[in-house]
Amino acid sequence: MCGIFGIITNQEISVGKIALEGIKRLEYRGYDSCGIVTQYSSKLYIKKDAGKIDEIHKKIKLDEFPNGAKLALAHTRWATHGAPTKLNSHPHVDCHNKIAVVHNGILENFIELKEELQSKGHNFISETDTEIIPHLIEDYMENDLDFKNAVAKAIQRCEGAYGVAICHADYPNTIIAVRKESPIVVGIEEGNTSYCASDIPAFLPYTRTCYLLDDDEMAVLKPGSVEFFDVKDSNVPKKKAIQKIEWNIDAAEKGGYEHFMLKEIYEEPSALRRTLKISKDILKTFAKILWSAKNIYITAAGTSFYASLAGKFIITKFLDKYIEAIECSEFQIQLGDALKEDSVIIAISQSGETIDLIEAIRWAKEKLKNRVKVLSITNVVGSTLTRYSDHVILTQAGPEIGVAATKTYCTQVLTLGLVALEIADLRKILPDNEIEKYYDALRSTPDIIEDFLNNDIEILKKIVKNLEKTHNFFFLARGISLATAKEGGLKLKEIACRFIEGYSAAHAKHGPISLVRKDFPIIFIAPPDETYDRLVGNVMEFKARGGKIISLVVKSDKTITDLSDITIRINQPANKYYNLFSPITFIPALQLLAYFYSVDVGLDPDQPQNLAKTVTVH
Ligand code: M6R
Repeated sequence: MCGIFGIITNQEISVGKIALEGIKRLEYRGYDSCGIVTQYSSKLYIKKDAGKIDEIHKKIKLDEFPNGAKLALAHTRWATHGAPTKLNSHPHVDCHNKIAVVHNGILENFIELKEELQSKGHNFISETDTEIIPHLIEDYMENDLDFKNAVAKAIQRCEGAYGVAICHADYPNTIIAVRKESPIVVGIEEGNTSYCASDIPAFLPYTRTCYLLDDDEMAVLKPGSVEFFDVKDSNVPKKKAIQKIEWNIDAAEKGGYEHFMLKEIYEEPSALRRTLKISKDILKTFAKILWSAKNIYITAAGTSFYASLAGKFIITKFLDKYIEAIECSEFQIQLGDALKEDSVIIAISQSGETIDLIEAIRWAKEKLKNRVKVLSITNVVGSTLTRYSDHVILTQAGPEIGVAATKTYCTQVLTLGLVALEIADLRKILPDNEIEKYYDALRSTPDIIEDFLNNDIEILKKIVKNLEKTHNFFFLARGISLATAKEGGLKLKEIACRFIEGYSAAHAKHGPISLVRKDFPIIFIAPPDETYDRLVGNVMEFKARGGKIISLVVKSDKTITDLSDITIRINQPANKYYNLFSPITFIPALQLLAYFYSVDVGLDPDQPQNLAKTVTVH
């Protein structure tokens, strides 16, 4: 995944500076190289290199361009085709340095197109797939098409996923952006300045008026205005609805926190409060469809998959149907012809752009047409997932910039909790006052987290200080807390670079226990639910082998506390209503543990190695 940004204006402003700020806000999408191009006096001026944006800026002053430049394109890259080098960095240009392109996505047929263009004499200098685009456009322009129609023709030759922005040295008043399966949003400051970007925060300091480009659509940006076309019909403008963005730029800036990840953990209470206000109507729709489904699958990747594990557990409490959770990359291969009509797929994705998930859903839809329903839960309005879904719930986490998903996990589990309680309401399987107790517990989750964040986090710093930094360790749990263990383990893996396994406490006896030596750290996630007594037995087994026992428990806990070397305590009532939503209230402690660990070992939690926020490669 990469981030692209474009600006075109008629104002006396530094487009280089704004483009640099724009890609800084998109750096979560990729951070191994970057570049900016501006146009002035029929020439393109390009600065690019490998490395993080700040490092490159220090070396070559990324924002300094000829005064008077009125357009710029910028790119922050996460390498897919070709190593992160200066030559492979975007923008890429044609043979005559006239056409510049920034691209997010992957072109699947680039090898054959490259051979075709090379045979016509085009000269390629990078290993990227992207470089074919400026050459293709050049080729069509040499055959007498104008810039816009040449772009449309060239794009129709490209297979794969792309969000691209393109400028031409001889067209000072035009930026063209096109999308297919990779997001492009367009922002407009009426009459003055237009922007395009991979994500809204990139231009949010300047405008909240935007358009979401659909697949196979092209936006032709002029200073302060835009026209839209279908790629296949680039002469007839089409109308698109304006979107007004509710949140402001503070939501996408660090606001005094050292890292986005820390800020986003502290935003969990407010994100949950907003998500609690999801409309009853859409929850009812989800509930009814799930109640009448023959088979139900829940699918996602990474953190969203662990949210699915928690959600599946919560929903099955109130629905007499098994929900099969399948990682989206395995969905097609595991289900094959076993996917039958009248199935319902719950698809979960923060970004709504994870390619494995999109493919799984697309495959299911193509196979069964309207006889399969897709209910999706995502945080990004207009994302690709929403286009393939029958019904969508938008979580209200706000923009999440840290690569590690934190507040979005909480809001996903909460949303699934709301769906579960709606099913309980609908099916009348519990007395009203009983359901109300579950609702009370769910509505209390923001307060419980707030209380923990305000009062109890010092213990996490102490644990991090006392942990032998070379150790690997386990997160063990049973039942619903298995999701918490897995998600806690994932957080530490991705941002602290330690091999930490989230595992079933029961299953760990069948092999993994042999790793335990004196002081081997094991974190038990232990809400007082129906698995508690058996978990006590597991704690004793691991303690007997010398393990250092760290437990995550409720404040009133006694038995596991007495067996533990250290406890992390969550201030919530010890009853079944609150236990059911403990995946929401217990996870911040593990997110923060990972955060403090990462900082303690000198890593950048916002930019883990080898990772981008959204994975758009198979
Ligand atoms: O945007 P999505 O929720 O579809 O992303 C899925 C995973 O790539 C994502 O959760 C990933 O595991 C995060 N880096 C975890 O923190």
